[in-house]
Amino acid sequence: RSLPPLVFHWIPWFGSAAAYGQDPVEFFKSCREKYGNVFCFVLLGRKVVVTLGPKGNDFVFGGKHTVIAAEEVYSPLTTPVFGKDVVYDCPNEVLMEQKKFVKVSLTTDKFRDYVGMVEDEVTQFMNSDLAFRIFQLNDINEWGAFGSYKTLAEMTILTAARTLQGREIRENMDKGFADLYHDLDHGLTPLHWMFENLPLPSYRKRDVAQEKMSQFYQNILRNRRAGDGDYEDDVMASLMRQTYRDGRPVPDHEIAHMMIALLMAGQHTSSSSTAWVLLHLADRPDIAEQVYQEQVEHFGIPGGGFREMAYEDMRKLPILDAVIRETLRVHAPIHSIMRYVRSDVPIPASLGAPSEDSVYVVPKGYTVLASPSLSQMDPLMWKDANTWDPTRWLDAAGMAAQAKREYDDDTKVDFGFGLVSKGTESPYLPFGAGRHRCIGEQFAMVQISSIVATMLRKIELRLEGPFPKSDYSSMMVVPKEPSLIAYRRRNF
Ligand code: HEM
Repeated sequence: RSLPPLVFHWIPWFGSAAAYGQDPVEFFKSCREKYGNVFCFVLLGRKVVVTLGPKGNDFVFGGKHTVIAAEEVYSPLTTPVFGKDVVYDCPNEVLMEQKKFVKVSLTTDKFRDYVGMVEDEVTQFMNSDLAFRIFQLNDINEWGAFGSYKTLAEMTILTAARTLQGREIRENMDKGFADLYHDLDHGLTPLHWMFENLPLPSYRKRDVAQEKMSQFYQNILRNRRAGDGDYEDDVMASLMRQTYRDGRPVPDHEIAHMMIALLMAGQHTSSSSTAWVLLHLADRPDIAEQVYQEQVEHFGIPGGGFREMAYEDMRKLPILDAVIRETLRVHAPIHSIMRYVRSDVPIPASLGAPSEDSVYVVPKGYTVLASPSLSQMDPLMWKDANTWDPTRWLDAAGMAAQAKREYDDDTKVDFGFGLVSKGTESPYLPFGAGRHRCIGEQFAMVQISSIVATMLRKIELRLEGPFPKSDYSSMMVVPKEPSLIAYRRRNF
């Protein structure tokens, strides 16, 4: 039994914070060269054991939640933003019930409605003068430019508000709700994660916004209950009907906080993914053209124009699907998945061991970290790992199976390299795995594909300047600003 090798650092408490913060994936790569798949680094006083590769993913995602827990790591960041008694501010069993409650409302029936709603919102947005006056250009041959990440952030929150969040939230988007959102969002940074409370304006604004937003949702709940039942059957309505296993109804403040959690969980993940998709399509007009032709084939009206998208059709668009999956491979929005270690835990010898007859042990109080970002770009597992190439999801039969499979932990997937992955032990996990797996995947796929398809139907894209690098300074991997895309209105 011994400790995993410690990454060398000069300054004791600070540790490797600078290298990790600047580019975590490069940092992990260079550590792997020196230390192998298991190593420990110091991050502002925390001791973090990194376990790389599919087996490392399995160790963290598949670990027993009573030993390897998310709450202690994430709660200081998320509880002040989401609010009390939900997600990581409650026992894990309660979170599991809360996730089930939300899942009840993420049905195929709902997705059918959402496709049209997203298309509608995107079209409205593009016709408004909000987004760099897209479409206000009279001459179809004229090129304009828009900041992809900023524009997609707007479209993502509007489409999420219209679909998941419900009519009341969408109607209030332009009336102060967006400002509350921004104040809350500015409380989700590495600084706020490291220090839960500091006497700084961003913390005060975060706390005020949390309280106001929580009240805002709770007011909607009160009005709905007091009214004549004339409200949409949305996520909130579904949460109002749920009860915990012990018979307890879900209190209003918990519903409010779950709605805030959903808003925040789906915002940067989806908006950065969609921005990356568009950036890659702008960089590869040949592939953008294939995506466009796929739209023409499925939805084109003879003589020009398109009919409305339908959910069933959206699921049969292999090129768009491959483009999104490949983008999530190369730009997984969440680069580090962390858990807190509640009691000493041995690392399986197959992952790394000091010698044949001993194992590494992660002591209680340490953090463990898996990075699907790294395994998703690992040259040991992927051909031309660093190249964005959607055809890899179309070529190999195994890849197609991966793209099409409904994720559940018992599915075995052949990645086409003779590698069979199962559940948590997979190199491709943009939505995580195990107990904490994302419940928003299908919604995100509906949202991203509807936004991209709607935009591509209307505009052509070209990259403006060099391809943006990744910005790791927030909690997510987003394109470095200005992430500009040149566009031109299509001729129809
Ligand atoms: C969990 C990724 C969109 C809600 C996760 C996790 C990942 C992830 C990696 C696991 C975190 C962990 O194990 O620590 C993504 C990506 C998205 C996306 C890449 C879009 C491209 C969404 C959306 C929603 C959402 C749209 C809401 C509708 C959640 C929730 C969890 C989760 C509730 C569970 C947290 C837990 O159990 O600890 N997501 N997500 N996500 N995500 Fe997503």
